[in-house]
Amino acid sequence: MKLELSDAVAQLILRINDPLFVRAVLSGQRRSLQPEYVRVDIKPVMIKDELKFQIVGSDGKKDITKNTELDFDFQALFLSGYSNLQVDTTTESYSVRISKKDQAIAGLSKVKLTRELSHNRQKQRMLPESNQIFKALEMSDMLGRIKPTKMDKYKQVDEFLRLMNQLIDGQLSDQKDISIVDLGCGHAYLTFAVQEFLKNKFQKVSILGVDERVDSKEHNEKVAIKLKVQSSFIAAKISETPNQKVDIAIALHACDTATDDAISWAVKNNAKVIMAAPCCMHQLQTQIKDSPEPWALLTKYGLVKERLIDLMTDSLRAQILKLLGYKVDIVEFIGGEHTARNILIRAVKSDLPALEIDKERYIQMLNQWQIKPYLANLLAQELKTTAQI
Ligand SMILES: C[S@@+](CC[C@H](N)C(=O)[O-])C[C@H]1O[C@@H](n2cnc3c(N)ncnc32)[C@H](O)[C@@H]1O
Repeated sequence: MKLELSDAVAQLILRINDPLFVRAVLSGQRRSLQPEYVRVDIKPVMIKDELKFQIVGSDGKKDITKNTELDFDFQALFLSGYSNLQVDTTTESYSVRISKKDQAIAGLSKVKLTRELSHNRQKQRMLPESNQIFKALEMSDMLGRIKPTKMDKYKQVDEFLRLMNQLIDGQLSDQKDISIVDLGCGHAYLTFAVQEFLKNKFQKVSILGVDERVDSKEHNEKVAIKLKVQSSFIAAKISETPNQKVDIAIALHACDTATDDAISWAVKNNAKVIMAAPCCMHQLQTQIKDSPEPWALLTKYGLVKERLIDLMTDSLRAQILKLLGYKVDIVEFIGGEHTARNILIRAVKSDLPALEIDKERYIQMLNQWQIKPYLANLLAQELKTTAQI
């Protein structure tokens, strides 16, 4: 519905002052105007028993939060240059789009929301929802909010960046340039997020995404053009990826033994940091028929056997990396409610010699269970030269 801009703003303010007001979002840019932020979020908050408005402005990199009194001048804010204005109450969503000719086009839809007055800030994200990459990847809507169907992926990417940041601060912060290879990159949600996140930390970020699917490469190259970033993509098997300099090799949910291919490629290319969140795993599952006693106590239950062998697979991957001179930890990188595949193997090259106890444990484990992990086959030569196994 078209209406005068002043009438549309009056409707928005009416709803902001409604006791059922839940949230408002301002985004986009009107012609010839320069709003202060990329996106503004407004919500009611209760601070020391007093009702206020919390206004969070995001410039696409960081958020600035202000708590204001109820008589705040929303008219000035709404007219300061944003082209999409939306105010939600518990029952209605009222949205206004301001056209290039400064005409207001309003829409009203029914919603069912809860009013939440807690003033605790939401978890600080590594990249805000409004960041341009999420729009280019079609993960966020026109108001710069992550679409509900993409929320799990957004949280995975966010947590991955958080854990990567810890390693960078400890290991790579002295470097001017950094090179990242994302193995099994799919639609490159993580690849673009890593590039965006690192561009303020390093002078030059080189990034390569590898996926065997040609359509992934084509999709990712289109996104790179949209974002005007220089990322390279190749359609290739991970194991056939040409050798190159790599500081951080990442693999998020590369299927089955593709995670082993990724770890192996990273080791052979002397990656300083390896971050691999494995996906489904079948290789050891098929090797283990009988388990050494007393482990039959666990392996007689199909479900427990499957989980036990998944954990064995990851522990053996970690042990192989340790034997090859990496410092390794295994962390849960996201709550189990977002993905069941929530383990991350983090390895940092240290060139420490392999300890005898680590070698013995590894050999005994393989002998007792009569197994040969796929990664051990891929890195047989390295295990022989570096750890004499
Ligand atoms: C589950 S998706 C994950 C994609 C992406 N890392 C993410 O988390 O959004 C796994 C991707 O790995 C790719 N892939 C699986 N095995 C591969 C291999 N051996 N070489 C290259 N790509 C592989 C698949 O084509 C798929 O795009």
